Amino acid sequence: MLSVRNLSKIYEVKKSVFAISSTKIKALDSVSFELKDGETLGVVGESGSGKSTLARCILLLERPDSGSIRFKGIDILKLKGKDFKSLRKEVQIVFQDPYSSLNPRKRVIDIISEPILNFSLEQKERIKERVTGILMSVGLDVSFMYKYPHEMSGGQRQRIAIARALATEPSLLVADEPVSSLDVSIQAQILSLLLEVKKKNRLSMIFISHDLNVVRFVSERIIVMFKGKVLEEGGRDEIFSNPLHPYTRMLIAYSKGEPMPVKIESGEGASCVYYQKCPYRIKRCISDQPVLFGTDGHKVACFLEGGN
Ligand SMILES: Nc1ncnc2c1ncn2[C@@H]1O[C@H](COP(=O)(O)OP(=O)(O)O)[C@@H](O)[C@H]1O
Ligand SMILES: [Mg+2]
Repeated sequence: MLSVRNLSKIYEVKKSVFAISSTKIKALDSVSFELKDGETLGVVGESGSGKSTLARCILLLERPDSGSIRFKGIDILKLKGKDFKSLRKEVQIVFQDPYSSLNPRKRVIDIISEPILNFSLEQKERIKERVTGILMSVGLDVSFMYKYPHEMSGGQRQRIAIARALATEPSLLVADEPVSSLDVSIQAQILSLLLEVKKKNRLSMIFISHDLNVVRFVSERIIVMFKGKVLEEGGRDEIFSNPLHPYTRMLIAYSKGEPMPVKIESGEGASCVYYQKCPYRIKRCISDQPVLFGTDGHKVACFLEGGN
């Protein structure tokens, strides 16, 4: 379905408006992974690890500096015109905050019918029927058709954002922190809805969250990101029963509410991106950058686990 190879994206950021020099942030540093047909890949990592940049590159909302993204065998970074537009139909996104991602001046019927009309997927006369069907599929009844975003709860708004994403009948859905702005009591409902629509519409999904518990609930495979790098990749159960990277172990401990090991902060500029926080760091981590290494089922970027 999707094959991402050596994707890199660097941002140059000025420290202030008056600063002459700028610092380079490697938002994505040679990220590679595969997504199989019908699979849900979880992407987990703390804030700033590059998850949203990855999502924006896959959606072609942003151009990576290097690397390739193949979707159904096609190099999407080379698409132009009509083919570019048809990718917009095939790959859809749900963002974190349904309030800012929905136009406040538009009613639900207009929000959901916009992509349908844009891609000529339905005749105008039949649009109401179509929207009704989509609303039902996200657990809302027709009474929502003429509501504005501000008249709905956060959970209902996120259902509308999911409905809009489904409207073009995509084959890949990217969900970027889709429950992070919602009350905990609502999160499970939206996660269950995502799983349900994924199954019903035979979607593949990239599910992004900083919260490992949330990622565990929906994903079949997981990649763990830190400062633009994939540090570990594997099947969900494998990651949880046999976490190899110190960062993954830390995330798992954190998700269980266990106490954190003491942070070490010295060592800026080391090759391994996790060096500054790693309790197990060795000399080699300063000079060499570990690359992802292992089997198809489980890979890790750490010298202590046989990495190279
Ligand atoms: N448009 C941008 N301009 C400059 N820096 C950016 C931009 N977008 C993201 N970054 C930086 O890139 C890094 C990764 O950001 P992001 O992809 O948003 O991470 P995440 O979604 O995991 O929190 C962060 O250090 C962030 O500050
Ligand atoms: Mg983000």
